[in-house]
Amino acid sequence: MTATARIGIVTVSDRASAGIYADEGGPTIQAYFAKVLTSPWEAVARVIPDDRAVIAETLRDLADREGCCLIVTTGGTGPAPRDVTPEATEDVVEKPMPGFGELMRQVSLAKVPTAILSRQTAGIRGKSLIVNLPGRPRAIAECLDAVMPAIPYCIDLIE
Ligand code: MTE
Repeated sequence: MTATARIGIVTVSDRASAGIYADEGGPTIQAYFAKVLTSPWEAVARVIPDDRAVIAETLRDLADREGCCLIVTTGGTGPAPRDVTPEATEDVVEKPMPGFGELMRQVSLAKVPTAILSRQTAGIRGKSLIVNLPGRPRAIAECLDAVMPAIPYCIDLIE
């Protein structure tokens, strides 16, 4: 990772973005990185609705203009009609990285049988790695613990 890594943290939730409830996912991801990262980093946080075009535009903005080397989304990965985060991710990535979703689902299944309901994926756009996480705050560490060992190396490879 570069001197001060910029990390995009995107909460995808109709209700959190409308202020109906407070965003828990974004702060949980920030706390996770504060705990595990040893080199300097800063967060670029967004809270947006479950809208495919808005999600895609936010991912493009964080990758192309904000210069985030890593973008983590939380929410919108399930089977409900408004769950479109994986589709929006696929819209913007140049290179899908299916191993991330496969591994996160596999480790999550040991914790919750409903892990199979998440369609979370990942991919590369330019110099950014985009990773989807489910919306439940407790899923964040469950999933990131599994893929964190590969993330700095992946970012080095695309720099
Ligand atoms: N994965 C982990 N590790 N922990 C969880 O609690 N919840 C599951 C699944 N994956 C869960 C998980 C549930 S209940 C759903 S519906 C899907 O993620 C999709 O969640 P999302 O639509 O909020 O992204």
